[in-house]
Amino acid sequence: MQSSTVATAVKAVRHPERVRAALSHPGQIASWSRHALARKVFVGASDEYRSESDTGAYVALVQAAVKDYKAFTTFRRHPNYVVVLEHVTRQEGQAYLDILRKDAPDLIDRIEEFKSNDVVGSPRVFDYPGIGKISPTTLRYVKVASDLRKLFGAEPGHNVAEVGVGYGGQMLVCDTAFHMRQYDLFDLAPVLNLVERYLESHLLNSAYHTSTLNQCLGEESYDLVISNYAFSELPSALQRRYIEKVLATAKRGYLTMNSGTPETYFQHNKLSLAQLRELLPGFEVLPERPLTCPGNYIIAWGHSETL
Ligand SMILES: C[S@@+](CC[C@H](N)C(=O)[O-])C[C@H]1O[C@@H](n2cnc3c(N)ncnc32)[C@H](O)[C@@H]1O
Repeated sequence: MQSSTVATAVKAVRHPERVRAALSHPGQIASWSRHALARKVFVGASDEYRSESDTGAYVALVQAAVKDYKAFTTFRRHPNYVVVLEHVTRQEGQAYLDILRKDAPDLIDRIEEFKSNDVVGSPRVFDYPGIGKISPTTLRYVKVASDLRKLFGAEPGHNVAEVGVGYGGQMLVCDTAFHMRQYDLFDLAPVLNLVERYLESHLLNSAYHTSTLNQCLGEESYDLVISNYAFSELPSALQRRYIEKVLATAKRGYLTMNSGTPETYFQHNKLSLAQLRELLPGFEVLPERPLTCPGNYIIAWGHSETL
């Protein structure tokens, strides 16, 4: 039962080599509950309201990690989780590190602080020259922080929102890198339970608040809105509502996109770049560095410098 479910996860993933890497610890697989591997739980009632990650297996695993402390201690290497997040390769981690050495050597000097993002959930870590063991996903989050600083300055925003937050790793890294007042995390309700469990495992400088799209009044005007591989994975109806409630009034924006043009990976029921031009504040399209999937790009607005 377990191995066939694992095989399904490997088959389903966009980058099977990433899931295979996560499966290199058979002891971990034995400790995962059969229930979490087999169950399917959806949030959206139909495809019209489901993002690319609302596939059934992901939310079931997230719920298991919230409910069971043992599952929580290893959730970041579970195949059902790696399919959606934590699939940054060792090589991509090295590319983020190379960019950081050039763009933000002071953040490299603080790398031990950022390693706090690797303490919970047993992520895969690799030994990188000069900085020791760190998860390549954490290196990606530090590289995003470096991009934000390059584009928007040393204090990118005091009132920040992120759409599609994973477990909250980008928030934790930004909380270390920047002076922020409040950080609002938007995601699916079961995912936000995991985010709270994760963030409460740490000691933060800023305050955080979690919300689903439906729970948001849409009255806040954020200094900065971030969304990496998340807003772009939502169906168009949800993209439109996020724009209305959260993105359109934000002074600054940074979105890593994997939909919206004929070259991008996700094509089904997404707003096009031309439609986004009509709906978002005037933005610039920037390259994703390193390019993690053909066609990916970054949308930025409100910036004074470029990448
Ligand atoms: C590919 S992950 C990216 C996570 C994170 N931004 C990162 O870079 O690691 C996509 C995220 O979108 C979230 N998501 C799915 N449906 C959503 C929705 N309706 N509203 C907000 N977030 C959603 C998923 O739970 C997940 O956290």
